[in-house]
Amino acid sequence: MTTSGERASSPSARNHDARRCLAVVLAAGEGTRMRSRRPKVLHEVAGRSMLGHVLATTTAAGAGEIAVVVGPDRDDVAAAAKKAIPAAEIHEQRERLGTAHAVLAARAAIARGAEDVIIAFGDTPLVTAETFRRLREALADGAAVAVLGFEAADPTGYGRLVRDGDALLAIREHKDASASERAITLCNGGVMALAGSTAIALLEAVGNSNAKGEYYLTDVVEIAHRRGLATRALTVSEDEIQGVNDRAQLAQAEASFQKRLRGAALAMGVTLVAPDTVFLSADTAFGTDVVVEPNVIFGPGVTIGDGAVIHAFSHIEGATVGAGASVGPFARLRPGADLGEGARVGNFVEIKAATLGAGAKVNHLTYIGDASVGAATNIGAGTITCNYDGFRKHRTTIGANAFIGSNSSLVAPVTIGDGAFVGSGSVITADVPADALALGRGRQAVKEGWVPLFRDKFGPKGDH
Ligand code: UD1
Ligand code: CA
Repeated sequence: MTTSGERASSPSARNHDARRCLAVVLAAGEGTRMRSRRPKVLHEVAGRSMLGHVLATTTAAGAGEIAVVVGPDRDDVAAAAKKAIPAAEIHEQRERLGTAHAVLAARAAIARGAEDVIIAFGDTPLVTAETFRRLREALADGAAVAVLGFEAADPTGYGRLVRDGDALLAIREHKDASASERAITLCNGGVMALAGSTAIALLEAVGNSNAKGEYYLTDVVEIAHRRGLATRALTVSEDEIQGVNDRAQLAQAEASFQKRLRGAALAMGVTLVAPDTVFLSADTAFGTDVVVEPNVIFGPGVTIGDGAVIHAFSHIEGATVGAGASVGPFARLRPGADLGEGARVGNFVEIKAATLGAGAKVNHLTYIGDASVGAATNIGAGTITCNYDGFRKHRTTIGANAFIGSNSSLVAPVTIGDGAFVGSGSVITADVPADALALGRGRQAVKEGWVPLFRDKFGPKGDH
């Protein structure tokens, strides 16, 4: 969805589009408060890593060059960045000496001369492409430094924006702020944008004589102002710039992002019967007039076609659902599930790495994995594709207009031709030609009058 503001162009996209833009993404934080083996920036919000969000939004804001600053030996973070943006370059910050020091780890990238330099934080995933564009616009209008201010409910810990009228004079970090500066409620969102022409000179002028002994990125504001360069503060909501330091904040970021995704889905013509119970991924794609009932989860990589209905309590991931198809209630579509137009997948059905042709029906209690099912074929209740032999996976191919009787096991690899029938309860181990009937079950025996003899021999005497 386009909810994180990832539009290609917008009314506010102006002259900055012609300017080269570099995004420096700081991702060298240790993230100890997450209490995790996984690096903080690889934790996920709406099915995408926080780093992935930042790479997507900065790219959408026009950053054609991306430099990611990682901590020592963070090959995992580097690999994730490369996977999202193959051209991303990785810079290592060997010692964690502060945000300005971190940006300078990417000095070589900045020195290549992009006009706009966006500085984004890998642990601040909710900043929209639109906001990054507004920062770029301030640069295009002549600012050397553009920052994001927000009204903090509790300003403790944040840098404060020190202004004189409209002019932004400095950012004072909480620990270094005077009592009167601490009374300021307009806080620094952290991410900012620097004009490429002066960025390195400003960053190099930053010292570390402050309460934390760190090289503060925020100091570039005061340095720029003193040098007569223009500084600008734009405002954003606190919600948008919230950073993630622990699991509680990760949950908050998830909640904010879900709210945004639900709003965007509703706005684009999806019916969410109970929006707060539906969980979406950043890349969930909907056609128009889709109906989603309560308690549905969309993992990454899902596309839902026009007019499809997703019934309650379904779990969908890596799947494509064709126009007018119906899924659930209580269905599970796993990666590689591809449902054709008007296909139906009913309750307690799991589909994995399988295509269903147009109008195919799999209505009850079934597992279809590593398979293709032709158009208009009916799969009876309780059918299982036995795709795994304990070591390898095998495919099941079912043609169009076929009928698989209930409670059949299709032992892959196996092919069932167009129009074939499989008698219910069959275990199918050999291919079935088109239009044939296959019966793979024990023949039924009926012994008339057997029960009374049995009863007389073993049952209670005289009381029936
Ligand atoms: C920063 C701002 C503060 C702002 C706040 C908003 C500075 C000095 N202060 O403070 O004004 O109100 O964000 O949340 O910038 N990082 C590195 N290497 C380092 C240090 C930091 O990669 O050496 C990364 C962190 O992983 C994080 C980001 O830079 O993603 C911000 O650093 P952090 O230490 O969280 O800054 P704050 O103290 O929150
Ligand atoms: Ca922080």
